[in-house]
Amino acid sequence: MTWLVTGGAGFIGSALCHYLAGETDQKIVVVDKLTYAGNRASIESLEAEGRLDLIEADIMDAPRMARIVEETAPEAIFHLAAETHVDRSIDGPAAFVATNVAGTCAMLEAARAFHDELEGPQKAAFRFIHVSTDEVFGSLGDEGAFRETTPYAPSSPYSASKAGADHLARAWHHTYGLPVIVSNCSNNYGPRQFPEKLIPLMILKCLAGETLPVYGNGANVRDWLHAEDHARALLQMAKRGVPGETYCVGGGAERTNIQIVETICALMDARRPDSAPHKRLIEFVKDRPGHDYRYAIDAGKIAGELGWAPARDFETGLAETVDWYIAHPEWWRPLQDRVYAGERLGTQA
Ligand SMILES: NC(=O)c1ccc[n+]([C@@H]2O[C@H](COP(=O)([O-])OP(=O)(O)OC[C@H]3O[C@@H](n4cnc5c(N)ncnc54)[C@H](O)[C@@H]3O)[C@@H](O)[C@H]2O)c1
Repeated sequence: MTWLVTGGAGFIGSALCHYLAGETDQKIVVVDKLTYAGNRASIESLEAEGRLDLIEADIMDAPRMARIVEETAPEAIFHLAAETHVDRSIDGPAAFVATNVAGTCAMLEAARAFHDELEGPQKAAFRFIHVSTDEVFGSLGDEGAFRETTPYAPSSPYSASKAGADHLARAWHHTYGLPVIVSNCSNNYGPRQFPEKLIPLMILKCLAGETLPVYGNGANVRDWLHAEDHARALLQMAKRGVPGETYCVGGGAERTNIQIVETICALMDARRPDSAPHKRLIEFVKDRPGHDYRYAIDAGKIAGELGWAPARDFETGLAETVDWYIAHPEWWRPLQDRVYAGERLGTQA
């Protein structure tokens, strides 16, 4: 038996692979195109241990996806491969529609062909875990939280493409009986996150003594969950989740962006007192076009039905994340040299 993970060389995908390798005996097969955001270094220790095979492939290659699913015969497919950065979706939306919508269609079709041929316990056990985001619900005001029944109202090209993918995933369950489970999760943080995203960007800019650009007035609110807690939620969905159902996953840790940046500055002050106070590096910059104000998750359903709750509190997890980036320049420095050096993205609206 194997687990098939698309996007397994990305941030959450690699966290999931490490978690699956620790918690289960199954072989892991990763399908990843290794775009700018995919990093083989994030999973090479698992490859070296013989726990994981990486197949470099594009999920939009439908015939190849069908062959890979048939040959790996997975117990579950965890579908995470996607274009994921809102700012990049503002500058170039077409790649988001291609990978996130057409790529998801190819994965669903490959899974359907495989599932149709299964029989008995193998058929009953198979799951397609479609990994989505809370951003598909749009923006909240100061009150309330997203739950599974919240209507979709995506507002960025990224979230619109993820919403399209979610509708396909649910349609494949409804129409073809594919055992799809959808996860809508809040912002993730933790080790091995590509340094274009808020938390690693701020950590690396602090280390370099560069200004810390905060969009707008920094008042936008996100709920934060450690990627390993997300991985545990995904495995629980695969094992005990109900096909056709959606689970909202969140960390119960709402913070404004400026709170996040100031907390990172305080953590850096303790670790690099010579350059304190890092807060002096904060600079408010022009807001992201269409910036959603607030996201929050009511994770009551997954807590009640699957017994899931985040294991890490946010302050501990954030301190560990800062320490991980300080300890692993060999992971991020090549990305800065070759792929992304921290420049502003998403201004072309
Ligand atoms: N990061 C978050 O806070 C967050 C929160 C909720 C949900 N999600 C979802 O979780 C999933 C993973 O997010 P992430 O933050 O790890 O993303 P990421 O950008 O770090 O990784 C994406 C991975 O997908 C791969 N990929 C991209 N296009 C591909 C293609 N056409 N074929 C094959 N592989 C391709 C990349 O190479 C990369 O390894 C995404 O579906 C995202 O929408 C992310």
